[in-house]
Amino acid sequence: MSTVLMNGEFIPREEAKVDIEDRGYQFGDGIYEVIRVYNGKMFMAKEHLERLSASSEKIGIAISYSISELTNLLETLISKNSLSTGILYMQFTRGISPRNHGFPTDDVTPTFIAYTKIMQRPLDNLENGVSVITVEDIRWSRCDIKSLNLLGNVMAKQKAVEASCYESIQYRELSVTEGSSSNIWIVNGEKVQTHEANQFILNGITRQKIIQLCNENGMELEEKAFSIEDLIDADEVFLSSTTSEVTPITSVNNVPVKEGKVGEVTKKLQGLFIDAIIAECGQLAN
Ligand SMILES: Cc1ncc(COP(=O)(O)O)c(C=O)c1O
Repeated sequence: MSTVLMNGEFIPREEAKVDIEDRGYQFGDGIYEVIRVYNGKMFMAKEHLERLSASSEKIGIAISYSISELTNLLETLISKNSLSTGILYMQFTRGISPRNHGFPTDDVTPTFIAYTKIMQRPLDNLENGVSVITVEDIRWSRCDIKSLNLLGNVMAKQKAVEASCYESIQYRELSVTEGSSSNIWIVNGEKVQTHEANQFILNGITRQKIIQLCNENGMELEEKAFSIEDLIDADEVFLSSTTSEVTPITSVNNVPVKEGKVGEVTKKLQGLFIDAIIAECGQLAN
């Protein structure tokens, strides 16, 4: 039986219930984070919790815990569930209040839940790459907020599922923005490129780590939107996310990226990323 964290209390999973008038349930009015756990340790927890705090400020949800209090609670949850390799999911909603679009009064407190899930590293995808399709980005223009409102992302991912692909790459007018739940990168020669961090993408924590790794290792990097043509013509394409790490993309819309092989720059970044995980969480079993 697993333990979940609900409003600061550790309770059995079966006892965690959502009120029908919770604003997360009715409006998707809330924010969330997903943190990777390796060897029972959170990877880049501070960065995730800082982004959570930034998202909460952008939508006016007051989180009453400090980052260190949240870290302690999450570490306790991981240890109660004896989680070694997996993820930690957490969300804050605006709380329970009679349905009305406007914000409730200040006495309504956010609903906070967190739980853990066993999830192995996606070793096959990391080694062999994945296929993707391109879809129009139909989402709103505050994709920088890690909001519970994921309908556009859900619809994009479903198109990938129906096309037997791993991910959908979204484009807005002529520019590639991001995946349904990942950031997208192209490589030409030695140059690595991804969409700039603005309101049209989520500034992924994995994205931020890759940028840091490029800078530390003297790799050429550009944060600038690119077109679908650039995507199709790229030497290498990969995606990044907390759960997918640095995953090579070997085909776009059924057309192989170059020869359909994982590129050298992608492999180099995978290696650097694994080193960063090991430095923070210890040696990986696989
Ligand atoms: C829309 C979107 N973009 C990018 C990402 C990657 O972010 P991160 O690296 O923080 O997981 C995610 C992760 O879920 C996402 O949902």
